[in-house]
Amino acid sequence: MVVASVCTDFAIMSGPEITHHNEEFFLSARILSGNAIRDQIYAELAGEIASLAAAGIKPGLAAVLVGDNPASKVYVNSKIAACGKLGLASFHITPPATITTEELLGIIKDLNARDDVDGILVQLPLPPQIDAKKVLEAVDPAKDVDGFHPMNVGHLVAGRPALVACTPAGVMEILRRSNIPIEGANAVVLGRSDIVGKPQALLLLHAHACVTIAHSKTKDLKDVVRRADIVVAAIGRPAMVTPDFIRPGATVIDVGINRINDAKQAESLFANFPERLAEFQKKGTAIVGDVHPDVVSVAGAFTPVPGGVGPLTIAMLMSNTVKAARMRRGARAPAAAASRS
Ligand code: GUN
Repeated sequence: MVVASVCTDFAIMSGPEITHHNEEFFLSARILSGNAIRDQIYAELAGEIASLAAAGIKPGLAAVLVGDNPASKVYVNSKIAACGKLGLASFHITPPATITTEELLGIIKDLNARDDVDGILVQLPLPPQIDAKKVLEAVDPAKDVDGFHPMNVGHLVAGRPALVACTPAGVMEILRRSNIPIEGANAVVLGRSDIVGKPQALLLLHAHACVTIAHSKTKDLKDVVRRADIVVAAIGRPAMVTPDFIRPGATVIDVGINRINDAKQAESLFANFPERLAEFQKKGTAIVGDVHPDVVSVAGAFTPVPGGVGPLTIAMLMSNTVKAARMRRGARAPAAAASRS
């Protein structure tokens, strides 16, 4: 048994049976590091980007950030930074929060027509006056690197995925590259959003899991989740999935990114994680997932927050941008080296 102090960055812990310095509490789960898997994917993409560059092709991503939602700004800046790191072109478009639907549609139309733009993402949420569905449907499906256009959703339903939503695609990469058995597994997707829950369920189904979609209205929710070999939590409620939801040994994938600022809540969530509590007390804030940190003592494998699914969302956006650049150029573009989602 390995004895470890509690790490604030779970990504650096791996392997089974890590003991907490509170003798009562055992961190028995294998930690699935999203950062390590992101790095693998970036290494594969670097080769593909170099082959495209040799053919005179530099994939480009346009990120449209409407207004100044602070969380959205952080996400979009991370996406732009990832483009820079990989040598992709990026275009950061920042219309004001007061923009009308018609004006935003005009921006999308211009981006659709540009040859140097292979991927377009419109960061969500959009301000209330904007018809978000209309905007997402205006993006050329061939440049829809978020996989939100009904045409791409339809391809996914039909098992002909072209561009797939990044977060669920990233979850599949974590499961596959960590050798978690999917075929025949009972998978419970907790959450039914268009962005994560629905595409996640379809991807797991195509990988031959027996899939249940559970949500806030599901009867006996705890019992339903407890039957799962694989749980994907994407319900947007901090630490809702407590250890009693989890069958011992199950794989738990936490898609939630929730900011907490309440000291009492932090004391309760981090009771077994004194270093995380100390970090909260220093900063007055922390990011937690939809899964309670104590689940690490019951699960067989577990994605940390931060450092789990988050890095994969951006990695799959980069992967989709490269894929879109290749697809749009057809035979002129060199073939992909790897087979990602
Ligand atoms: N807002 C939250 N998640 C996402 C995402 O994956 N893509 C976009 N465009 N906006 C988001």
